[in-house]
Amino acid sequence: MWKIQPLLPVENPANIVSLGEPATPLLHLSAYEQTLGVARLQMKDESRLPTGSFKARGLAMAVSKARELGIRKVCIPSAGNAAGALAAYAARAGMEAHIFIPEDTPRVNIAECMVAGANVELVKGTISDAAKAMNAKRSLHPDWFDVSTMKEPYRLEGKKTMGYELAEQCGWELPDVIIYPAGGGTGLVGMWKAFAEMEELDLIGPKRPKMVAVQSTGCAPLVRAFEQKNTESEFWDHAETIASGLRVPKAFADYLILDAIYASGGCAIAVSDDEIRKAVADLAHREGLFCCPEGAATLVAAGHLVRQGVIKASDTVVLWNTAAGTKYVEMMEA
Ligand SMILES: Cc1ncc(COP(=O)(O)O)c(C=O)c1O
Repeated sequence: MWKIQPLLPVENPANIVSLGEPATPLLHLSAYEQTLGVARLQMKDESRLPTGSFKARGLAMAVSKARELGIRKVCIPSAGNAAGALAAYAARAGMEAHIFIPEDTPRVNIAECMVAGANVELVKGTISDAAKAMNAKRSLHPDWFDVSTMKEPYRLEGKKTMGYELAEQCGWELPDVIIYPAGGGTGLVGMWKAFAEMEELDLIGPKRPKMVAVQSTGCAPLVRAFEQKNTESEFWDHAETIASGLRVPKAFADYLILDAIYASGGCAIAVSDDEIRKAVADLAHREGLFCCPEGAATLVAAGHLVRQGVIKASDTVVLWNTAAGTKYVEMMEA
């Protein structure tokens, strides 16, 4: 991800805090390509990144820039994987990390924060309640720098690298459809920004993929907003899903996510936890890929969109597996 360093906000490469972020593979899903009947189906497998999720990209960038700015203490409310990534990068940078996560966050996420020496507070409720708890504490600690999704500009810049990497892997010809599991939406908005930059740099033309945001039927504020043709979402009460990264009752930057969806001619779609569970097992059986529930949700969404005629037989489609299935012990046990 550091390969495009001149396009990234860290000015002095000596400030980069890295755990060795590789370019993640774009895997051909030939079995599903046939079943779904699309021209090409691929999966960008982000599970290979440090801490096993795509959150590494954003937090590597945020922590690096924080180091450049002389920040020593960072804090975050998280659904789990961002917390694990922040804990790891903060440890590597010698920073103090204060993490606020729901008490039912996947156990591996809690463990990875604690083992990296972060200060962890378990909060009853969702990431929204964790954010409230963090803000109450932060007022007593003005030296804590808040790296909440979209409240600082650098995580987005880290996620932007997914767009450049994908374009290069596709020979600078973007796919017709990108299906992305959206919670706070940094990845989707980051890629959208990357595409605009790449056009300005003459790396690609004006063609854009349809951007599809996938959520769970147990927490689908973006889908509801899309179906009502709204430009912002409303808070989703009683959010519940096994795809913990998608349990975001209201994204802070919902208007940017919806803007990218509308501008690209894409859509937002919800899938059920039962469908997600089946897809996790099926992907492992048929392709040897143990995906996170959020990643498996994109495959379910692809099936629905083919049946609805939104995805055409001639389309090239890229699914986004955002983390490793092995991080979800509870799901495996179930
Ligand atoms: C595995 C996984 N997938 C997807 C998401 C949603 O990502 P974003 O907040 O960028 O929409 C998360 C967020 O926690 C996650 O952990």
